[in-house]
Amino acid sequence: MPELLCPVDRRHPLHIDREISDFNKSFNGVITCRDAHEFPIKSNIIDFLPEAHYPGGSIANFSNHFSITASTYETQWRKRSIGWLSGQDFTLQEEANLLLSWIDPYPKNIVVDIGASTGFYTRTVAKAHSDSSVFAIDFSRPMLEEAIRCGSEDQLQFYPMRADAARLPFFDDQVDVLVCGGTYNELSDPEAVLQEMNRVLKPDGVCFMMYLTKAESFSGKIFQTGLLPGGVFFPKSKKAARQFSQAGFEITKTRSMGIVTFQLLVNTRSG
Ligand SMILES: C[S@@+](CC[C@H](N)C(=O)[O-])C[C@H]1O[C@@H](n2cnc3c(N)ncnc32)[C@H](O)[C@@H]1O
Repeated sequence: MPELLCPVDRRHPLHIDREISDFNKSFNGVITCRDAHEFPIKSNIIDFLPEAHYPGGSIANFSNHFSITASTYETQWRKRSIGWLSGQDFTLQEEANLLLSWIDPYPKNIVVDIGASTGFYTRTVAKAHSDSSVFAIDFSRPMLEEAIRCGSEDQLQFYPMRADAARLPFFDDQVDVLVCGGTYNELSDPEAVLQEMNRVLKPDGVCFMMYLTKAESFSGKIFQTGLLPGGVFFPKSKKAARQFSQAGFEITKTRSMGIVTFQLLVNTRSG
C-alpha cells in the first residue's frame, strides 16, 4: 500500500488503509501523521482541505461544489462535450481507449487523476488496471461522491481525495502516471499546479493531458470570452507548450481535434 505525504509539514508519511478504496463498505475515520496532523476520512473520501474550501474562488470552481452539477456532469455534459467542442464524433469509449493506449507502455503502480471530478479517467484506469493504486484528486466533495457512486456500480477500487492539486499529498518522484482531463483550463494557478505535478511524477513518468485551446472561429471566440469571467481560460497551443516545458515536461504525443487537445507529457527532470 503506498504511503502519502502529510501535506501540512511535507516530511512525514501518512499510512492509508486499503479498505478506503472498497466502496462496498462506508469507511469513516482519521489519518494522522507523526506530528499529529489529522485528516478526516468521511464516506471513503480522504479530506486534506478545510470544509467548504474553494481554492481559486472562481465561478467554475464554485459551481463544482453543487450536488446538481456533480450528478449531471457526466451524463449531460462530459459524454457529449468532446464531440461538441471538437466538431467531430468522439465517444467516451474512444477517449478511454486513447488514454489507455498512450499510458500502456509505462508502469502504473501509482496513478493520480488531477481534478478528477466524477472520475471518468480514474475509473477508466481502475477498470483496466485493477492492481494499480489509483487516486482521484478534486476539491469538490459532491464530484468525488459521484465518482464513488459510479465506481461502486462497476465494483472498482480507487482512493478519492479532497485535496488541492497545488499541494499534492505525495512524495517527490512517487507517481508513475498522471491523468488530467480538462482541469488545466480551470486552474487558478496553472504554473504552480504543473510544477507540483512534475515534483510528484517519477523521472520518465508520463502525464496524459486533455485541454481546450483558444478558438480560431468568431463564434468560438465569443463563447470562450463569455467563460473567462467564470475562471476558465483557453491558452494558445504555444502558451500551453511553454508552461508544460517550464514545469519540466516534454510533449511526446499530440492529437488535436478542433479546440480539443490530447497530449502525452513526459517528465524530463532527472531523479
Ligand atoms: C473540467 S473538470 C475535470 C473533469 C474530469 N477530469 C473529466 O475528465 O471529466 C475540473 C475539475 O478540477 C477540479 N479542480 C480545479 N482546480 C483544482 C485544484 N487546484 N485542485 C483540485 N481540484 C481542482 C474542479 O473541482 C473540477 O471538478
